[in-house]
Amino acid sequence: MIKKIRKICCIGAGYVGGPTMAVIAQKCPEIQVTVVDINEDRINQWNQEDLNLLPIFEPGLSDVVGEARDRNLFFSTDVNKAIDEAEMIFISVNTPTKTYGKGKGMAADLKYIELCARQIADVAKDDKIIVEKSTLPVRTAQAIKSILDHTGNNINFQILSNPEFLAEGTAIQDLHNADRVLIGGDHHTVEGQKAMDALSSIYAHWLPKERILQTNVWSSELSKLTANAFLAQRISSINAISALCEKTEADVNEVARAIGSDSRIGPKFLKASVGFGGSCFQKDILNLVYICRTLGLEEVADYWEQVIILNDYQKHRFADNIIKKLYNTVSDKKIAFLGWAFKKDTNDTRETPAMYIADYLIDDKANIAVYDPKVTERQVFADLDYLETRQPDQNRKHVSVYNNPYEACKDAYAIAIITEWDEFVDYDWELVYKNMKKPAFVFDGRNILNLQKHKEIGFIVKAIGKN
Ligand code: NAD
Ligand code: UGA
Repeated sequence: MIKKIRKICCIGAGYVGGPTMAVIAQKCPEIQVTVVDINEDRINQWNQEDLNLLPIFEPGLSDVVGEARDRNLFFSTDVNKAIDEAEMIFISVNTPTKTYGKGKGMAADLKYIELCARQIADVAKDDKIIVEKSTLPVRTAQAIKSILDHTGNNINFQILSNPEFLAEGTAIQDLHNADRVLIGGDHHTVEGQKAMDALSSIYAHWLPKERILQTNVWSSELSKLTANAFLAQRISSINAISALCEKTEADVNEVARAIGSDSRIGPKFLKASVGFGGSCFQKDILNLVYICRTLGLEEVADYWEQVIILNDYQKHRFADNIIKKLYNTVSDKKIAFLGWAFKKDTNDTRETPAMYIADYLIDDKANIAVYDPKVTERQVFADLDYLETRQPDQNRKHVSVYNNPYEACKDAYAIAIITEWDEFVDYDWELVYKNMKKPAFVFDGRNILNLQKHKEIGFIVKAIGKN
């Protein structure tokens, strides 16, 4: 069995594989880390000499990659070679919601995971530790093990679950200073325990031992889905209260501060918003709901599904409010969107509330002017086209993407703040106001503006959870 980890391979060079492996390579200079992907463009971007052109924008990432790349961190499309050489293989491929067949729209699509397992089974010539880094339904390790154990070549594979808890925009900080690392494995066997210890020893290069938690593999898999479900539930809870605040003159920020001061509740993840986005919260909760339904736990499934229903309601409510306030129609009116990314400090737009809000307003014939400091025009149209609500040329007719926020806001009837980018707060709002149609509306979907100041300038301001 494996004694020492000298070479690591990570399959999947995405938002998780790239940053996590860059940090492992940075902190463990004696280990060679190779990140592989079938997407050649992505690998080329990871290998770009200019570190500003990495495929992912993430504060601090370029420094980490700059330190380790070509020393002990490599990006490659040669998946077989990296699998063959590594003692430990992380699987960090995407696990999107299924878009076809059984479980469509709910279950996680595990085809990329299965492909990885089959490729490892084909290529491996010696014992390996396989680490599930992707977020997976509980009991997936069993499926991976079944594929690997049927190769008939007497190779010993240990399957570990090591879910990732980083959040985009703070990924490097989260990795450097993780609250905990979770490692699930088979601690009833000597080989299983050894594999868990081998992975623990990697994280122990920079994290205190007490933050490295070992559990059985099923608890680890389920803890990841549960963590995301609890986090998303907090957002839906405060967003539900934001709707009530708007009817009662309570202020959602004050309510959040008041309840967050209770140490049992805590202050984090209580920011009311246009709704949560991102590639994982919705996908992982749908997956949890699907698992519960297939296991006959209807009440449990309904309970968690409500988190998604409320999130859809919040996005819809925000868009609807814009139409209502603009005298019940936004037809031919320019509406400026400040922000398109699903949160600040990332260029990721997966499941961004922006696309759903834009889609709803375009249905009412609005002209949307988008400005986001990190999202490209191509991405904005890709997101809208992905929804398949209308012909692509109609999206182009109704949406323009600007490189300059002042241009985006010029002649607009209303501004919608969709993402909480810091720079939005510091704009010359007097100038923005001057160049807008009057009355000039601002819909602050992130509660980042100073409402009083904006009212004094002349704006009519509507913020989430405030009257
Ligand atoms: P991603 O889409 O950014 O990256 C996945 C990569 O895997 C892609 O580049 C794809 O080309 C590659 N890939 C797919 N199949 C492959 C194969 N057979 N061989 C080689 N490469 C292959 O996805 P991501 O955001 O990094 O998420 C990966 C997993 O991590 C998901 O399960 C997700 O739920 C989980 N996760 C994501 C985050 C996040 O912040 N994005 C955080 C925690 C966990
Ligand atoms: C989330 C979790 O925070 C990570 O722990 C997890 O690893 C990751 O999902 C994953 O599994 O992919 P992420 O989606 O990157 O991370 O970002 P978050 O900071 O959680 O924000 C998610 C969404 O919720 C964003 O749209 C954000 O704007 C919104 N949000 C967050 C709120 O509306 N209010 C809040 O108080 C917090």
